[in-house]
Amino acid sequence: MLPEAARIEEAVVLLNAGELVAFPTETVYGLGADARNPVAVARIFAAKGRPASHPLIVHVSGLASAREWAADLPDAARQLADAFWPGPLTIVLPKAADVPAVVTGGQATVALRAPAHPVARALLAAFGGGIAAPSANRYGRISPTRAADVREELGDHVALVLDGGPCEVGLESTIVACLDGRVTLLRPGAVSRSQLRDVVGQIADAGVDSLRVPGRDRSHYAPRTALAIIEAGALQPQIARALASGERIAVIARGAAPPASERLTWRQLGRQPADYGRALYATLRELDRMGVARILVEDVPGDEPWAAIADRLQRAAAQGGDGAVTDAT
Ligand code: TXA
Ligand code: MG
Repeated sequence: MLPEAARIEEAVVLLNAGELVAFPTETVYGLGADARNPVAVARIFAAKGRPASHPLIVHVSGLASAREWAADLPDAARQLADAFWPGPLTIVLPKAADVPAVVTGGQATVALRAPAHPVARALLAAFGGGIAAPSANRYGRISPTRAADVREELGDHVALVLDGGPCEVGLESTIVACLDGRVTLLRPGAVSRSQLRDVVGQIADAGVDSLRVPGRDRSHYAPRTALAIIEAGALQPQIARALASGERIAVIARGAAPPASERLTWRQLGRQPADYGRALYATLRELDRMGVARILVEDVPGDEPWAAIADRLQRAAAQGGDGAVTDAT
């Protein structure tokens, strides 16, 4: 029996009553509501402090239930769902007529995902309907990858947090749109561009069309602490400069720490992108809590396995406060 099985029933009762339930997925924790209940879905926006124009992902148990939400399932969408569901892939499709506007932000499309985490699957099976859920964080902040992160961030706003342990992937799902006969990559994630290409052929890039590109806001995925991405070769001089100025800093790197220094916190996330991605958000939360002056992140390789990590790091660095250490003038 799943550790949370007893609580799945309680979660279903709460969802049916229009309450919010946070649940684990293999990517990050979601903040869920009955996707057919506009009042319940509106509570998600209130809890997150998220603008109503930002559409939500509807979580479904699989392709059969996706048909209830999409007006059309193009071949490409079916092939992608066959290949990657349940899993870390979200597919944007033309919405069915009866999808509440509050779910889609008034758009003509709906985002659908069948998550793989056993607790999410058990919840979806027991609930029987679609669960609208964004990541269970306050708007613009880091997605939670552990139940404790959700409680810390959303506390009283959520009726129940199902604890499924730390998330296996740790970064939000890959998002593709299957619209107008094209497959467009909107957000990189654990399902890579070449995996998508192997299934459906050509993948278009999100261009300047009317689609709302996820996470485009500068503040998305950002820690509170100023963060800068530093080329590996420039890391040591940057560290030296920061320490010389008396600051407490933290470094996130793939490799091992230099000799210890009291004012330097080093977090080695490793050379495997899967390990790095799994640990990244929890590490950013930890460093935020420590209250260091800045976080320096050693840049990551430019190749495909690192694409989702590089994307999230760039967004975190774009939060406004430039974490780079410059010479005082
Ligand atoms: O891994 C994930 O995708 C997690 C878990 C909980 O499933 N969810 C997640 O949701 O990251 P959220 O709301 O934090 O990010 C979903 C992104 C948003 O940036 C939203 O704008 C975009 O998906 N989105 C939702 N519906 C869309 C649509 N119809 N067209 C384009 N983008 C859409
Ligand atoms: Mg989010």
